[in-house]
Amino acid sequence: MDTAELMDIALALVDCEALPADSAIYVPGEAIRRVLFGLDIGAGELVMARQLGYDAVIAHHPVGVPHQAWRVFEKHVDLLMGAGVPEDAARAAVAPKLEALRVEGQIRNYEQVPLAARWLGMPFLNVHCPLDELGRRVMQRVVDDVLARDPDAPLGAVADALANLPEAQRAQTEVCVLLGAAGDRAGKVVVAHGAYTNGGYHVARAYFDHGVDTVIYIHLSPADLQCLREHADGQLIVTGHIVGDAFGIAPYIRALRNAGLEVDVLSDVLDPGFESGQEA
Ligand SMILES: [Fe+2]
Ligand SMILES: [Fe+2]
Repeated sequence: MDTAELMDIALALVDCEALPADSAIYVPGEAIRRVLFGLDIGAGELVMARQLGYDAVIAHHPVGVPHQAWRVFEKHVDLLMGAGVPEDAARAAVAPKLEALRVEGQIRNYEQVPLAARWLGMPFLNVHCPLDELGRRVMQRVVDDVLARDPDAPLGAVADALANLPEAQRAQTEVCVLLGAAGDRAGKVVVAHGAYTNGGYHVARAYFDHGVDTVIYIHLSPADLQCLREHADGQLIVTGHIVGDAFGIAPYIRALRNAGLEVDVLSDVLDPGFESGQEA
């Protein structure tokens, strides 16, 4: 298998045809049988992979494309509009953080880790948005099932349904209700994930202002949480970063193994075969 096929397996899981701006093949390679996967890959992990005899390394988080990855944040506009937010309000909600991410993307040394991979001759790619979109669908399905069984389900029941998934069970963090009380009615719930990073204050606020009762993020800055507490009227659940990412990563690991690859995952939380042994 080659690095393009490793990427294509991820894209196919969400019927995505074009490579998103936050995912990239940094060092192409072929005849790949043994793969190391990690949430964050740096030069150290690449050296480790070489020493341990892997043929390729896959990261989730983008390391070499910060100057373009911010564009994926615009996907929040589609998610907002899908939940009934008018386009002008959706674009206004996305604009401040989109600009911040664009400016921040100019700061980073986008070459550092890809250069290490190139000098090591280690095939290396990162797959971000497709796996987060996969995770978003998994989470939204779980939430929708809870609400289909009981349209008046409380926030605590929604949080528990996510917390009971195997990925969350393996993690040390907890699924948290950050705004609202566990006994409050969850109402209309949107999982706002799969658009580079969390939408922060403005995106959550736009959902709340347009009929969404509960927003689910995988993480949120303390400053944004404070702003929401002071200026917004809505409910918020946060899954925890590694858990939220694991919901989309675990099915990808499974698909790679089903394609015949030997895949080791740095994290037990992200590895769907951790408890049952290495599954086929
Ligand atoms: Fe992610
Ligand atoms: Fe992440």
